[in-house]
Amino acid sequence: MLNSQSMPNSDHPPRPIVVEHRNRADARQFSPSAARNRGPILEVLARILPKKGIVLEIGSGTGEHAVCFAKALPGLDWLPSDPNAASRASIKAWIATEGLANVRAPISIDVRDEVWGVAAPFDAVLSLNMVHIVPWEAALGLLAGAGRLLRPDGVLFFYGPFMLSGIHTAPSNAAFDADLKRRHPRWGVRDVDDLAGRAAPHGLELREVVKMPAHNLSLVFVKTAWAS
Ligand SMILES: C[S@@+](CC[C@H](N)C(=O)[O-])C[C@H]1O[C@@H](n2cnc3c(N)ncnc32)[C@H](O)[C@@H]1O
Repeated sequence: MLNSQSMPNSDHPPRPIVVEHRNRADARQFSPSAARNRGPILEVLARILPKKGIVLEIGSGTGEHAVCFAKALPGLDWLPSDPNAASRASIKAWIATEGLANVRAPISIDVRDEVWGVAAPFDAVLSLNMVHIVPWEAALGLLAGAGRLLRPDGVLFFYGPFMLSGIHTAPSNAAFDADLKRRHPRWGVRDVDDLAGRAAPHGLELREVVKMPAHNLSLVFVKTAWAS
């Protein structure tokens, strides 16, 4: 069974993310875009994440990224999260299927909340393909939360489509942005400068912008000081 969710994903602009449930006995969901982008994202994560520590993933979706990265980076403990109950069920099912000891049970985090109910500090916070499909206030909530919860030198990592100095990196991203805004006036492809400017008061410094396949970017922020 194919279920087309209302969550657009940059790896397939401008169509919505397609989550394939298939006729299975468990709750695992399958995202074609996650299958495509997890390899290139893992290459960056393997280089920039510490060898040991705990990673909080925001908006984990199906859970395929969490199990893939946790399997490849066994020194890290993974804490997936998603406010969507079906996504959390999928993440749980993926963890059970893969039998991984270093992925914790998923929790519900809505980045708009001022308290996320998790024990800090984290060595890294990850957000993949998310900040364009939430209102800007939610992106700001994510920056504030990362500022609160990351240890000094901890990493905040974004992956997805972004604008650079107000310019789309490809015509397909401009079309995707227009499609997002048609769906929801407060969604849209974010500008790296805007994110970096709003991250700075939380002690988060943009250290690296990595070009990724399909006109996406990885953004690496580092926590330089405890949030003011
Ligand atoms: C396009 S999906 C991306 C899923 C996954 N990270 C990926 O790359 O395949 C966006 C995810 O963000 C989650 N999300 C939406 N609003 C959120 C919020 N306010 N706080 C945290 N997560 C949110 C959704 O439930 C969804 O799983």
